[in-house]
Amino acid sequence: MNKTNKFPQDFTWGVATSAFQIEGGSAADGKGPSIWDTFCLNPNNIKDRSDGIVACDHYHRYREDAGLIASLGVDAYRFSMAWARVQPQGKGAWNEAGFDFYDRLLDELAARDVKAHLTLYHWDLPQGLQDGGGWLNRDTAHRFGDYAGEVARRFGKRIAAIATHNEPWCTANLGYGNAQFAPGVADAKQAIQVSHHLLLSHGLGMQAMRAQATSAKLGIVLNQWTADPATDSDADRAMAELEYARSVQWFMDPIFKGRYPELALRAHGADAPVVHDSDMGIIHQPIDFLGVNYYFRAWCSAAVPPLPAPALQGTTDMGWEIYPQGLPELLLKLKGEYALPPIYITENGMANPDAPVGEGDAATVPDAPRIAYVAAHLDALKSAMDQGVDVQGYFLWSLLDNFEWNSGYAKRFGIIHVDYETQKRTLKDSAIWYRNYIEAQRNS
Ligand code: FCB
Repeated sequence: MNKTNKFPQDFTWGVATSAFQIEGGSAADGKGPSIWDTFCLNPNNIKDRSDGIVACDHYHRYREDAGLIASLGVDAYRFSMAWARVQPQGKGAWNEAGFDFYDRLLDELAARDVKAHLTLYHWDLPQGLQDGGGWLNRDTAHRFGDYAGEVARRFGKRIAAIATHNEPWCTANLGYGNAQFAPGVADAKQAIQVSHHLLLSHGLGMQAMRAQATSAKLGIVLNQWTADPATDSDADRAMAELEYARSVQWFMDPIFKGRYPELALRAHGADAPVVHDSDMGIIHQPIDFLGVNYYFRAWCSAAVPPLPAPALQGTTDMGWEIYPQGLPELLLKLKGEYALPPIYITENGMANPDAPVGEGDAATVPDAPRIAYVAAHLDALKSAMDQGVDVQGYFLWSLLDNFEWNSGYAKRFGIIHVDYETQKRTLKDSAIWYRNYIEAQRNS
């Protein structure tokens, strides 16, 4: 390690997962179905025709997994709660057995001195609420507020940080805009209205949690990117500006400025969302942290067919361009535009077609491309911090190979390999590298 990649001693090192992607136990102990359970019932929705019924079986193996997390030497674990596990219909009765699971998980983490960073909503809406209109129904935002308040009441003193949403851009645009994700709707106008209800639910959730005596830091996690024009042409530059307004500013401006960005509003025209008078006041309230998920940049080409991104540093198994310098570019841009709270990088990592080499306990899983990816992004992140961006933690996506949404199990993001036949977990080389990296940070 040299001086330039020496992170502060109190920097939070972590790993991340989400409920539907790892838990399994999809109907265990009174859990209700979520929209992802339903979405997987149509096998055409998932590339390998799989589902989340077992996933990594974390619901039954959480103790072993907590041990693995601790063995990495991380400070914190970011995971999400399955709303339908603790409130099967998304409204009405709570499911004590569901809360018990998270209670036990929190105990396991605390016993190992690993801080819990919880996400309330990582895309798995209770199907009961979907049946009543889902996120298109404004009432769902109020139901989310009830859920957030109840979780904060029960667990608010045992959790370091609670995020309301993970990547509402995806919930709105992939769930309602192009039908790639649950609930599988393709309707631009609905997607925009849904994004407003998600933001409203964030505000209502914040209020409900603030009303509880929680010591957790409260915030939201957004997926973000810079938008780069492919050429210097007016068309490409206009496209990039609009892309940034519709994806990044669309969520940031309401939270930090109390309004939607003009450029995007104009572009939405008649599809602009219905906003009640009091909504912006609810959405625009202080948050204690901003979670940023960074994987790639947006490459904007108005040409037909569009010019492909140069991908000089290659692409991942998802086909995503590897572009670490986009991370500091993004963070510095955000710092220039908003009065930011401390930032956590809540997700960053890559899919790679990893396979074990050797047998049994001697097996290893070489994944040099992932090590290079993470190392390059950490260097890039540090350069943003050196330029004054207040970043307080980094969470590698993901702890385990898991159910990668509409890609099923075909894409492996874990630093720990999962054999889905046997549920055997094997540390990949990147897990060992990350453990050594963190240890070196602590001892330097
Ligand atoms: C993010 C999601 C996460 C995972 C990674 C690869 O968009 O938040 O669940 O799928 O991408």
